[in-house]
Amino acid sequence: MPTLEIQHVDPTDERALRAWWEVGRAAAAERPVDAVDSWEAVRVGYVAPRTDGRSVLVAAVEDGVAVGAGRVFLLRGENAHLGVVVVDVVPERRRQGVGTAVLAELERVAREAGRTTLVGTAATPVDADGPGPAFAAALGYAVASEEETKVVDLVTAPAGWGGLDAEVTAALDGYRVEVVDGRTPEEHLDDVCAVLSAFLGETPENDLDLNLEHWTPARIREHEDRMEAMGRAEVVALAVAPDGRVGGYSDLAIQRVDPRHASVGITLVLPAHRGHRLGLAMKLATHRRLLELFPGCAYVETTNAGDNAAMNAVNEQLGYRVVERALDVQKRL
Ligand SMILES: CC(C)(COP(=O)(O)OP(=O)(O)OC[C@H]1O[C@@H](n2cnc3c(N)ncnc32)[C@H](O)[C@@H]1OP(=O)(O)O)[C@@H](O)C(=O)NCCC(=O)NCCS
Repeated sequence: MPTLEIQHVDPTDERALRAWWEVGRAAAAERPVDAVDSWEAVRVGYVAPRTDGRSVLVAAVEDGVAVGAGRVFLLRGENAHLGVVVVDVVPERRRQGVGTAVLAELERVAREAGRTTLVGTAATPVDADGPGPAFAAALGYAVASEEETKVVDLVTAPAGWGGLDAEVTAALDGYRVEVVDGRTPEEHLDDVCAVLSAFLGETPENDLDLNLEHWTPARIREHEDRMEAMGRAEVVALAVAPDGRVGGYSDLAIQRVDPRHASVGITLVLPAHRGHRLGLAMKLATHRRLLELFPGCAYVETTNAGDNAAMNAVNEQLGYRVVERALDVQKRL
């Protein structure tokens, strides 16, 4: 009987990192979205310095071949009680305890680092039950938030956006949208901090054990530098009120070395600024700017709670359609 060895993967060891990445790629092959970062993006991303947390990578290796892979991201800052876990097993080696062994090591690492809660996301088809949720439940992870992953096709959808401009213009009432590539203008830094700091408190209720994050100008600059170092381009739209204050924020990120698809980060309009179609206006602006910068980008994905009516309405107008369910699962250690 070949024995299964659980090994830590040094991200500077390209051979080991590549084998680890290939497990994730094989595990995601049946998913309806191309959910795996390209090898180039992973190779650059895991060695880029970061101060918001650190990743520990684990592989399950049998006869020199990686059959399972996992990662725990140990956050710093307000959520230093958390670890974010990912587990993948190649299809031909499932239901043999590989996933359990990988997760056990990730949990051991998390405990040793003083973590008390682990969270993860189990993706599953819209109308069927994939293995992720059953695995999570079997290992003691409860569903804390039900999300949906949506995709907009950038080849076909933009043709329908022209009609949305009139709706936005009619509601703007002196507001304007400013698009920022990569670096937040100095004059908006404090306001952007306030919007980002409010984000978690303004999203629909869920059971996730997350603390609000306090954003400072230094933290924003650090984030922007890190994105650059990781080869990620960010496109941000700010909703600016008639008095010049920022009332809304929406962003998209894309890997420069793999610009086939982009993902939405966060979108928020502060309560005092709602009712001006700013969510739609900002998203139109980021998606159009994305296409100017990366004309070959084929689609954008976003994940948000199925019961977030306001965001879902905007996404539907832009042409997003649900492609997968994403269950945020959580275990208190
Ligand atoms: C989910 C995944 C990691 C499970 O890996 P695995 O090695 O097959 O898991 P294990 O063999 O350790 O399974 C442990 C238990 O989980 C449950 N489980 C796992 N897969 C299941 C499935 N397809 N259906 C029902 N229960 C399942 C069972 O209770 C199983 O114990 P049992 O086989 O003794 O009944 C693997 O299917 C995978 O890579 N899926 C794609 C990526 C993913 O969804 N990751 C999980 C994110 S949380």
